Amino acid sequence: MNKQQTTRQPHPSLTGGAKGGSLITIAIDGHSSCGKSTMAKDLAREIGYIYIDSGAMYRCCTLFALEQGLIAADGTIDEAALEARMSEIHVSFQLNAATGRPDTYLNGECVEQRIRTMEVSSHVSPIAALPFVRAAMTAQQQAMGREGGIVMDGRDIGTAVFPDAEMKVFVTASDEIRAQRRYDELVAKGQPADFDEVLANLRERDRIDSTRAVAPLRQADDAIVLDNSHMTIPEQKQWLLDLFHKKTHPSPSL
Ligand code: DC
Repeated sequence: MNKQQTTRQPHPSLTGGAKGGSLITIAIDGHSSCGKSTMAKDLAREIGYIYIDSGAMYRCCTLFALEQGLIAADGTIDEAALEARMSEIHVSFQLNAATGRPDTYLNGECVEQRIRTMEVSSHVSPIAALPFVRAAMTAQQQAMGREGGIVMDGRDIGTAVFPDAEMKVFVTASDEIRAQRRYDELVAKGQPADFDEVLANLRERDRIDSTRAVAPLRQADDAIVLDNSHMTIPEQKQWLLDLFHKKTHPSPSL
């Protein structure tokens, strides 16, 4: 189940780790729509690591629940039915040769577009707050990252999934800037979008993600904060690469 299918092509001059040249684990957490996944994907591609979008896994659980009629019109989740059917949810990732980035597959079907709709976005946080959903996804994420050489982004990667990750980043940006980025993304994909709705949705997701009982969104004590409100994508990429080099080739202490 959930076999990771993306290929790793280590860049000889870039891979390596703080622990005797082994591959390190990189955890990138932060608020909704702060550009974590773009940064994480770019970094993984540059350094030849595997990239895993843990949010996509919670989105797959949500899409499954919606399609199986397990979420009522008022948003109530049939938790007992979903828990009983968790073993039917198989998430995997496959490299898309055209984009150079991994696409998300649910039970063998590419759902990369369908998991990014407003409908899924507005139901995903309550689904991700369910302890049995988190337990299943966390176990899969830990299995995917067992050998290191992975960049995983999410909310609880540095705190719950890989608390021993060698490199932890906590990304944030102002609410309005995050909403604008998400709105532009939806418009670019030709999906219906309303700025105020997008802003309200991301604030609500942050609220649920930060206040849930299990593995809430919070900065790990040893994470480095990056506020990318006023940074370009190339600047963010360079910032991450510099940090990666510091972690993997630490300068000898004087
Ligand atoms: O990163 P994203 O917006 O695609 O994440 C979708 C939802 O999944 C988000 O509201 C919170 C949840 N999530 C989580 O609880 N833990 C993670 N590691 C990743 C995402």
